[in-house]
Amino acid sequence: MDLQLKGKTALVLGGSKGIGRGIADALAAEGVAVALVARSQETIDRSVGEIKARGARAIGVSGDLSDWPGMEKAIKSAREQLGPIDILINNSGGPPPSGVVGVSAEVWTAQFNAMVLSLFRITDLLLPEMRSRKWGRILTVASFSVIEPIPNIGISNTLRSAIVGWAKTLAGEVARDNITVNTLLPGVIATDRSISLSRARAERDKISLEEAIKRNAQGIPVGRLGTPAEFGAVAAFLASPLAAYVTGSLIRIDGGLTRSV
Ligand SMILES: NC(=O)c1ccc[n+]([C@@H]2O[C@H](COP(=O)([O-])OP(=O)(O)OC[C@H]3O[C@@H](n4cnc5c(N)ncnc54)[C@H](OP(=O)(O)O)[C@@H]3O)[C@@H](O)[C@H]2O)c1
Repeated sequence: MDLQLKGKTALVLGGSKGIGRGIADALAAEGVAVALVARSQETIDRSVGEIKARGARAIGVSGDLSDWPGMEKAIKSAREQLGPIDILINNSGGPPPSGVVGVSAEVWTAQFNAMVLSLFRITDLLLPEMRSRKWGRILTVASFSVIEPIPNIGISNTLRSAIVGWAKTLAGEVARDNITVNTLLPGVIATDRSISLSRARAERDKISLEEAIKRNAQGIPVGRLGTPAEFGAVAAFLASPLAAYVTGSLIRIDGGLTRSV
């Protein structure tokens, strides 16, 4: 199927690794010019090199979502190099595992700024151009935990729910400009982050890392972790003109992990 994405541009936050990289790869394979944003220049350079080696257009800019002035500069630089952005992938790092009892105000504020507020502000930076061009796609990576909160990932459970309310509201505000806004809910995707969460579980339950990953997979109806490529394929479809009638939705990419309907 031709996703009709050739010639479009995408800004992929957290695009150098994991889920963001999976999305960047899928978009680049469809002829989208991609800009990857992350902190580590080394990882960005490696990912940009690999995408370019496959004949796609890719650039990288380094920036930290928890440092707004620096991030604003990075986004402007990406916009200057790539031209108007058609597709925004709002992806971020995740918080450290914890419950919610006794989390300090400083930690709540820092995580809200990095994981939530930064995405709202970047969207606001790019929206005027999308609206004037009467086309845009905004996809935000959250977690299945907004439907079924996960024990010991309390900060993520809480803050990502704010993203769901924001995205649903935004979808209604921009729908007449042919801009769709959808939220993607990963289950367990095989990335550095999911391995580090398995490592934390292994330490907690006093089991090996392999055993913790195996137990995670056993709880998933399809019996395995998802891959960044599988995640990217769904995102590329939603970013395409073919998905023009899908907006304001929560899309689960979880191998059936979420038990509720
Ligand atoms: N993997 C899963 O199973 C899963 C499940 C549910 C939800 N999620 C959520 O999905 C998102 C992506 O997860 P992932 O598994 O792909 O993580 P990952 O493999 O750790 O990749 C995270 C990406 O974001 C970048 N990043 C992290 N913190 C950043 C910051 N402060 N500023 C700018 N870039 C930053 C990283 O590069 P640098 O480190 O170089 O900055 C990297 O490119 C996270 O929010 C995670 O919580 C993942």
